[in-house]
Amino acid sequence: GGKRDLVGKRVLISAGGTREFLDPVRFIGNPSTGKMGLALAQAALHRGANVTLVHGPANWNVPLGVQAIPVINAEEMQQVMQEYLTSADMIVMSAAVADVKPRDYSSEKLPKRSLPESLALEFVPDIVSELAKMKQPHQCLIGFAAQTGDIVAPALDKLKRKNLDVIVANPIDKTDSGFGSDNNQAIFLDKQGKQLEIPPCSKLQMAHHLYDFAWG
Ligand code: C5P
Repeated sequence: GGKRDLVGKRVLISAGGTREFLDPVRFIGNPSTGKMGLALAQAALHRGANVTLVHGPANWNVPLGVQAIPVINAEEMQQVMQEYLTSADMIVMSAAVADVKPRDYSSEKLPKRSLPESLALEFVPDIVSELAKMKQPHQCLIGFAAQTGDIVAPALDKLKRKNLDVIVANPIDKTDSGFGSDNNQAIFLDKQGKQLEIPPCSKLQMAHHLYDFAWG
């Protein structure tokens, strides 16, 4: 049962955390597990979509019927997302992209004593902003804003700055929601000023609420 409103549509999802390696054993990363992106893929599949899931390192199995493309770092994620962008009707960037990367990579493990000097950082590309520049008007581009404290104002700022159609303002300082949890809570915001608060629910329910909001 359920809604089949995404039949014939292509949904492109980024999920999980990216990792930026300094040497073979050390990276800059974050606690994202990709569960929200996995739920977004499942919900889109249930609604009849053709689903591509571009994800960072994960410990879950990809649902049958979803095209999954594993990546490690932001540059790889950007390449794959750009490759699939043109054919997508909806793009959901739920990935927690590591914002910075070590400027240099050493293929040999670095000695501990050299780490403080070896850790010069630079910014990775903002993937969703680059996608926004290339997207067609019929395509719906959705971003996430994981926030602590006030969530609406910074999310609205990201919606505008990153040129998104919809943003999910996602508190990560509440118990039983955000990184690693099976549940989540959020406020959805769109560029027309529509706003919808979603109280705590499963990430799968959250995904369905998001498609209802963005597509319904
Ligand atoms: O990190 P930030 O809160 O600005 O992320 C907001 C949105 O931007 C998310 O959808 C995230 O996936 C995306 N993002 C990205 N590339 C980055 C950083 C964030 O696409 N380098």
